[in-house]
Amino acid sequence: MTSIKLKTPHSGEYEQPTGLFINNEFVKGVDGKTFEVINPTDESVICSIHEATEKDVDLAVSAARKAFEGPWRKETPENRGRLLVKLADLFEKNADLLAAVESLDNGKAISMAKGDVAACAGCLRYYGGWADKIEGKVVDTTPDTFNYIKKEPIGVCGQIIPWNFPLLMWSWKIGPAVACGNTVVLKTAEQTPLSALVAATLIKEAGFPPGVINIISGFGKIAGAAIASHMDVDKVAFTGSTVVGRQIMKAAAGSNLKKVTLELGGKSPNIVFEDADIDNAISWVNFGIYFNHGQCCCAGSRIYVQESIYDKFIQQFKERAQKNAVGDPFKHETFQGPQVSQLQFDRIMGYIEDGKKAGATIETGGKRIGDKGFFIEPTIFSNVTEDMKIVQEEIFGPVCTISKFKTKEEAIKIGNNTTYGLAAAVHTKNLNTAIEVSNALRAGTVWVNTYNTLHWQLPFGGFKESGIGRELGEAALDNYTQTKTVSIRLGDALFG
Ligand code: NAI
Ligand code: MG
Repeated sequence: MTSIKLKTPHSGEYEQPTGLFINNEFVKGVDGKTFEVINPTDESVICSIHEATEKDVDLAVSAARKAFEGPWRKETPENRGRLLVKLADLFEKNADLLAAVESLDNGKAISMAKGDVAACAGCLRYYGGWADKIEGKVVDTTPDTFNYIKKEPIGVCGQIIPWNFPLLMWSWKIGPAVACGNTVVLKTAEQTPLSALVAATLIKEAGFPPGVINIISGFGKIAGAAIASHMDVDKVAFTGSTVVGRQIMKAAAGSNLKKVTLELGGKSPNIVFEDADIDNAISWVNFGIYFNHGQCCCAGSRIYVQESIYDKFIQQFKERAQKNAVGDPFKHETFQGPQVSQLQFDRIMGYIEDGKKAGATIETGGKRIGDKGFFIEPTIFSNVTEDMKIVQEEIFGPVCTISKFKTKEEAIKIGNNTTYGLAAAVHTKNLNTAIEVSNALRAGTVWVNTYNTLHWQLPFGGFKESGIGRELGEAALDNYTQTKTVSIRLGDALFG
């Protein structure tokens, strides 16, 4: 069996594929292994699904290779675009089901899951638009030479995605890869395989040739590692922890030097100046850390507030955080659902304990909610010092630290006091402050008077240890194409 009937409170009964999606078919793994998928809201087992091992990675890679050398290379850019746009339309048509499966498996609030699905459609359609606009150049060197520069696809792309935005990462990875003419083997995170498999059915429905997009479920150390070290994978794109990002690079270096792009962690500063609109700033600071239960690589987890407004700010922020609706992800008013897994829950609670031991003050939160499901109170730590683990390490949960600064120079210095560089934000009404501080912060995205407002038209990625390469926007095309120079001699042989 490669599918099962499941139910969500939002969609009723539906057909959940459980197989590995290779060559446009759902198949069992070669070794016949399966693994359980857990519902983070009540800790029950949702179902078991087929697990990919190295042998299945081989099969998926050879399917992708065959498609790349065969039908996909011959497909017109126009048709690549058409297929992606069709896929985007199908995401919209099936939005309620996709969002419901996302909430069931990941625990994210249904209203946020709907936002994710809408952004998936936006992203896929956007890259559909790019497919026939990937252009080269003619470069004059000498009068007897004609040179042109082409953008060609890289080939078979391995893509390894995390569990915090299962569908959104699916679209960020597949959209640009396919638009540029590559084929794909995408591995989902072992915590959240379900929505990607439902979305896989749409690949076939959209009309993609077999083997262009293959979706496999499995574990990082087995299937993920097999992709990263595979001799016939031309590029690996990874989103996840910095620790694993380093392993992926090593695996690429130790195998065939496949191209590597990485989107890793963050410890992003959210800086509030005394001239900011306080109500606005509090809303964005709250959204900055607690959106998606704090499970965001770009979460604004270090909050710095200018001294003169600090007391007022912290009071209001505390009240705001306490009002966040935490609970059943299928309730429409819910803002924060459970953390994704027992392991993530334990990691976060470990950081909370560590913060307490280090002498930081819990302004609000710090505890588990209920005794079933991985729910954690929105938590704010004050009285922190820059060397504390809770200030330096990515917690990836609803936990932030808050401290004061005096001057703009100090704000820049502490803002940059991290090995990461994914995102940052500045809240101020002063245009000069906004621009000066944005210029000085070493981060791939800087938000001004907003937070977490990503858009598929805008590049996203990390400075420093937050990653290599950019996703989204036109910039992502650079990471899915390679440049070929063709130089044609027009005159007689030079050395003849
Ligand atoms: P992880 O980095 O282990 O997992 C992410 C993906 O990588 C999953 O698909 C996993 O199966 C795969 N993977 C794991 N080990 C691998 C290996 N050796 N080779 C190839 N693929 C491998 O992240 P995890 O353990 O789920 O979360 C740990 C921490 O990572 C979080 O607490 C958070 O700090 C960070 N993280 C950051 C994310 C981001 O969006 N940048 C997303 C998820 C986690
Ligand atoms: Mg891991």
